[in-house]
Amino acid sequence: MADSESLPGGVTVVGLGYVGLPLALAFAKKLPTTGFDLDAPRVDGLRAGIDHNSEVDSATILSSNLTLTTDVSCIADAEFIVVTVPTPVTDDHEPDLSLLASVSASIGDQLRGRSEGLPAPIVVYESTTYPGCTEEFCGPIIERESGLRSGEGFFLGYSPERTNFGDAEHTLETVVKVVSGQTSAVAARVAETYGLIAKAGTHMAQSIKTAEASKVIENVQRDLNIALFNELSIIFDRMGIQSSDVFDAAATKWNFHRYQPGLVGGHCIPVDPYYLAYAAARTGYDADVVLTGRAINEGMPEYVAEKVVSLVRGRGGEPDSARVLVLGATFKKNVADTRNSKAIVLAELLAGRFGVVHVYDPYFDPEDGLERRFEVVGDPAGSGREYDLVVVAVGHSEFDVLEDQLPELLSPGGFVFDLTGTLAQNEKVASTTSVWSL
Ligand SMILES: NC(=O)c1ccc[n+]([C@@H]2O[C@H](COP(=O)([O-])OP(=O)(O)OC[C@H]3O[C@@H](n4cnc5c(N)ncnc54)[C@H](O)[C@@H]3O)[C@@H](O)[C@H]2O)c1
Repeated sequence: MADSESLPGGVTVVGLGYVGLPLALAFAKKLPTTGFDLDAPRVDGLRAGIDHNSEVDSATILSSNLTLTTDVSCIADAEFIVVTVPTPVTDDHEPDLSLLASVSASIGDQLRGRSEGLPAPIVVYESTTYPGCTEEFCGPIIERESGLRSGEGFFLGYSPERTNFGDAEHTLETVVKVVSGQTSAVAARVAETYGLIAKAGTHMAQSIKTAEASKVIENVQRDLNIALFNELSIIFDRMGIQSSDVFDAAATKWNFHRYQPGLVGGHCIPVDPYYLAYAAARTGYDADVVLTGRAINEGMPEYVAEKVVSLVRGRGGEPDSARVLVLGATFKKNVADTRNSKAIVLAELLAGRFGVVHVYDPYFDPEDGLERRFEVVGDPAGSGREYDLVVVAVGHSEFDVLEDQLPELLSPGGFVFDLTGTLAQNEKVASTTSVWSL
């Protein structure tokens, strides 16, 4: 265990989801750590070593010193509280701060009953949000509920999560962690505490607002880069040019940055730009570039659905009687997360246009209680089923093997629409099958 005067005696992580669980497990290797979540089935599952998000394996959970609890009173005397609750958007694409509000109210409520004589706790938010949210929205709620003053009775910090789930290379250990605090002394304590687990080091942002802004623009930039390539692929398709050929040529220039057009889903990239646009609007500025890029990416499932309908018709097929297989339903490669999955949106749109739509995804749990218009099927390899169209929507590693069998899955005249941009490199598929891509 770590030993330093400025390190906290322990860490309390509030919210044990994709972000909170790995973080709590990492802290638990260094300091006494409590993980609190109000979702009792989630905590029961973790106690049994089961992470339904399939991010952390059972042995790692079961061998950890992490204390798991659903008892909110663990916050009352906590020294270093880290908040990792979701920050989604409403149906109108406005920030939905309800979870940040309720968790801040719980923290304030607990701090009201804090034991006498304890040092003021530090509350570090990790949830992605707009610049100003921690100090102007969350802090006042803690103040109101606790009766304590921000900067006296408790201190605020912000340290955005930027690891890439499903990606073994960019993890908590290998990525620099941005940290910040309400005062320079608090920022230093936040940096030292995160320094225990962020092996690649920490970057001290000038202020909490700066740290919040840095996180949100990481995802805005990615959204916009992909939006540009989506728009380019739409333009070049109208011109009868294959966009990947254009990108291959342009990428030979030293300062051309290539991105893959496609579907932008998940809990972060399609959400966070709305947080920045919201905060910009509050200053009287319309973030037009940000929102236009967002609109292009949001429109891609509809664009692809229309495109494949016209391709089927162009090849003499009739969508009503065509059979379609969609490979991939989660929001990105090699993860089980279906939040905001545009592959699912696409499959739903196809189900409204084609006779039969099957979806296969080894990560997808169809028992999520949601009504679907498509049918979830098992591994199509060797199933004897044939399809007029296969849409490769997500590039899961498991599909590498299936790729070779695509020609056998297609009916005569059938074709593949590849949203991953990788199938062209598979010689067997490319030489035997019609493959379209963005
Ligand atoms: N998932 C990612 O890849 C990722 C990456 C970077 C940043 N983020 C950001 O991190 C934040 C968390 O995302 P996530 O994907 O881990 O969310 P998640 O839905 O996986 O987990 C959130 C957890 O918080 C719990 N929770 C909600 N309200 C609570 C409360 N009042 N008290 C205690 N627990 C509560 C939920 O039960 C859930 O288990 C979001 O702001 C997100 O934008 C996520």
